[in-house]
Amino acid sequence: MAGIFISFEGIDFSGKTEQARRLFETLRTAGYDAELLREPGGVEIAEAIRHILLDAKNSGMTDRAELLLYSAARAQITKEKIQPALAAGKIIVADRFVDSTTAYQGYGRQLDLDFVRRVNLFATWATLPVITFLLDIPLEVAAARLRQSGKAADRLEREDHDFHQRVQQAYLQMAQAEPARFAVIDGTPSMDAISRQINETLRRRLGLRI
Ligand code: TMP
Repeated sequence: MAGIFISFEGIDFSGKTEQARRLFETLRTAGYDAELLREPGGVEIAEAIRHILLDAKNSGMTDRAELLLYSAARAQITKEKIQPALAAGKIIVADRFVDSTTAYQGYGRQLDLDFVRRVNLFATWATLPVITFLLDIPLEVAAARLRQSGKAADRLEREDHDFHQRVQQAYLQMAQAEPARFAVIDGTPSMDAISRQINETLRRRLGLRI
């Protein structure tokens, strides 16, 4: 049986990582064979690439190197983990996937969108999520959460307001263009309220018993 591929997207501090984790726990509790993955990373080679990508010291990285490194990490996790898991009938819950590259490198860095689309397909052998939750929050909320977290901003989080605004707008535009795959969720209510909405969407759209 083919598995189910679910991804979470959103700007930094949208709460998607916590929601992906909650969904993974819910699925496991309901008896589903699920795997939680994060991108970039999830397998050894991709985690090493993640380190290069997020290290604030690498401020000289070119936009093209950035696109290719995210894609390299993705090609590795797709072949090593995602495809075998789906073939075994598992549910994959991914914290980011190709839409992050479209939003951040395509729209954020303003690289050629058609090229980005082709690289995304190349890096994934066109293995794509059937449903993508976009957690949408205003940029001011994201900035306040970054301050509250007290953590040092990574290389991408250090980008300016315009960059993050392009990314956020791109996500909404992408969701509008593909309403059958995307589910846009308001990321500002409580974590519990958001989880309930995600679970309800999965019951409705995919018939999951959660
Ligand atoms: P994370 O904070 O969700 O783990 O993501 C790491 C950073 O990498 C985040 O700022 C978004 C960025 N990113 C891209 O720019 N392109 C991509 O393809 C992916 C997967 C992440």
